[in-house]
Amino acid sequence: MKAGVLLSETRVKNMDKEFLRQIDQASELLTQSQDQKLEDEVLICECFCVNVRDIREACVEQGEVNLDLLRKRFSMGEGCQSCMKAAPEWVNKIF
Ligand code: FES
Repeated sequence: MKAGVLLSETRVKNMDKEFLRQIDQASELLTQSQDQKLEDEVLICECFCVNVRDIREACVEQGEVNLDLLRKRFSMGEGCQSCMKAAPEWVNKIF
């Protein structure tokens, strides 16, 4: 009976280790995907056909995304506005 309890505790510890290893892997993948820059061809504004390359070229002098400049140059946000609503998700993946 006692051996059965020990075996069970060992099994639980191994499961915990495996679970923690999987959490570490998932966390690593999430961090990598948040840091990844978007490919040039990714379409950001569907209404006005503005992709990542267009945004990079427009904002290259500042070295960071300027939403006001993008609104003026490409009319981004003047259609359905979903590109501007989603800006927090893509702004840091341009440069
Ligand atoms: S996706 Fe940019 S205005 Fe609609």
